[in-house]
Amino acid sequence: MEKIGILTRDCAGVNAAIRSIVRTANKNDIKAIGFLKGYDGLIDNKFIQLDRRSVSGIINRGGTILKTARSKRFYIESEQKKAVQNIKNNNIDGLIIIGGNGSLRGAHDLATKYDIPVVGIPATIDNDVNGVDLTIGADTAVNVALDALDKIRDTATSLERIFVVEVMGRECGYIALKVALAGGCEEVLVPEKNFDIDIMCKEINTGNSKGKKSWIIIVAEGKAKGRDIADIITEKTNLETRVAVLGHIQRGGHPTSIDRIMAARLGNYAVEILNEGTTDHCVSLKDGKVVTIPLEFAVQTKKIDVDTYYKLIKILT
Ligand code: F6P
Repeated sequence: MEKIGILTRDCAGVNAAIRSIVRTANKNDIKAIGFLKGYDGLIDNKFIQLDRRSVSGIINRGGTILKTARSKRFYIESEQKKAVQNIKNNNIDGLIIIGGNGSLRGAHDLATKYDIPVVGIPATIDNDVNGVDLTIGADTAVNVALDALDKIRDTATSLERIFVVEVMGRECGYIALKVALAGGCEEVLVPEKNFDIDIMCKEINTGNSKGKKSWIIIVAEGKAKGRDIADIITEKTNLETRVAVLGHIQRGGHPTSIDRIMAARLGNYAVEILNEGTTDHCVSLKDGKVVTIPLEFAVQTKKIDVDTYYKLIKILT
């Protein structure tokens, strides 16, 4: 293998993974190029050369130095063919694609429909890649959200207020559940679980009459808008409720040590297995060891154990 291409989504730890890939490749006399703006860069043949020096000073930086985009064009077959032609014209022997389900689905297409050697590295704050315990970026996102939540709690407690905090996760309640448990919150609403708001409002009223004045309710954005939940609570309890929408701060920030170390290990392993001929797989950590998972399996919907988290959150409130 003489040349590999890299493309990415953005979240904390992605730059650390790019660094690991480039430096491992260079140690093995493999050249690396980075496509700009994810799949769009592959279609438009926009890339930069990457060497040891160009990835220095990025291990601690959030986002991606390669920029990214949610490429709608890559769903179109004629655009996919342009991407494949660019891979061939640039004499690229294999690709490493860093991202969540959408990116890994694209990787699976390239491997199966066009016979391009591809290895994926799961990176998304949603931690929803099937068979993967932890994706790059998820640990940082939970910690960023938790840090914000701790600050909100200061006000919630001081003013004896109810707060609804909306976190990211359109289809997946991972961040919400983790933050609710780690932040000692009273309630959590996630897309994977039905929820009865009347019951919660009754509990708030009962608690309030017994002297429990402050509540923090976490809502995953895919379940409901924090504003709507707050309005219903105020209407049904007559209690003042505030909303905080954490938004994209959760996808940025300095990666935690967990994300950096995972990125270093997975980037290194991805190059090694791609060089040895593995394709259509992604890499992951299992019981502290690097493993491979078929992309066909990884892109299926991951089921998270909502009930275990939920039960514990309710016991501990
Ligand atoms: O998939 C990661 C994620 O941050 C989700 O948690 C969120 O729902 C979505 O992306 C937001 O996407 P965008 O940045 O395109 O608005």
